[in-house]
Amino acid sequence: MSFDGAQQILRPPADGLEYLRGRQIEAQTLEGGALGVRGGRISGFEADRRAELIVDARDCALLPGFVDCHTHLPFAGWRAGEYERKLRGVAYDQIARDGGGIAASARALRESSDRQVLAQGRGLAAEMLAAGTTTFECKSGYGLSREGELRALALARELSLQVPQTTTSTALLAHAVPEGHTADSWMEVVQAMMPELLSAGEVSALDIFVESIAFDNRHLELMGELAAAAGLALRCHVEQFASHRSVPVALAAGARSVDHLSMIHPDDVAPLAHARCAAVLLPAAEFLGAERRAPARALLDAGAIVVLATDANPGTAPVVSMPVAIGLGARLYGLGVREALAAATLNARDAPVSRCLPPRTATFGGGPRPLAVPAWD
Ligand code: NIG
Ligand code: FE
Repeated sequence: MSFDGAQQILRPPADGLEYLRGRQIEAQTLEGGALGVRGGRISGFEADRRAELIVDARDCALLPGFVDCHTHLPFAGWRAGEYERKLRGVAYDQIARDGGGIAASARALRESSDRQVLAQGRGLAAEMLAAGTTTFECKSGYGLSREGELRALALARELSLQVPQTTTSTALLAHAVPEGHTADSWMEVVQAMMPELLSAGEVSALDIFVESIAFDNRHLELMGELAAAAGLALRCHVEQFASHRSVPVALAAGARSVDHLSMIHPDDVAPLAHARCAAVLLPAAEFLGAERRAPARALLDAGAIVVLATDANPGTAPVVSMPVAIGLGARLYGLGVREALAAATLNARDAPVSRCLPPRTATFGGGPRPLAVPAWD
């Protein structure tokens, strides 16, 4: 296949880079040209006259497909009523204490058949593809029991077979404290389920929600130990509603990503910016939850690996469109074109563990498959 005459092609400053930070971001090029694809991979940046299919890419920009590296698919239903309460000023932690939030989505998942959950997931994946997302992450986290979490991961696996995109699976085993447990006793269950989790062989990362209504930094450390012992990446939801100084703990535990960061302590920006750990920003959750804005500018200026994702979930961010997340990121954080595009493509691919991406993904300097969209400017 050959894409000919594009007005712009987004390219990293060099081949083989795993992520872009600091000056590398503005060094991305957006020159016009052509792009050949063979066997699902980019074969070169020139027109391929022998190609069976030639796409007229005039007036288009060629970008890698978007990588949505933080979603909570698959899930059941939506929590629109909860959003109405939020608009009237009820806080997320109050809603959670009233049995809403994650617990409500856990009930909905329990009460839904596999067929229903997969049908909702396929529909959302189709919307995501239409908006340019060619790779996305799935998470468990609405299981809230040993069986429920394993079912959620099995559903993620099944969804991956039913959608055209490449997906990864993250076991968000510590999302809310299940009924009948303390955070400590639930972490014992998590520890005990690791062998079974690993035998399925499809999970690339462990995840945990550190918050007053969920787990604390000690549990984050323990999750880091479990991830390291299992050879999985550690990812974490941190500093979303309040500052817990979880970023240094996550870095010491070897986290590959710290997600949310609305309330990150200013002293934690520089250490994060120097680490091989992605700062995953979720502007849709911030906007819809009237949360404080993550300090994206400070993170970028300090050299962090900044990523944008949707946080697609039934409560805090019922948003599956990466263009919406990118647009909100541009507006709320003042990101430039190259900053936003790096955050939604190459850097986003670095947050999930790339070894888990199956080879059917075409590469763009090691990244995802190309996509033609209207030119930027
Ligand atoms: O990323 N913060 C924790 N997890 C989700 C919310 C999940 C939910 O409310 O259903 C998030 O915002
Ligand atoms: Fe999330």
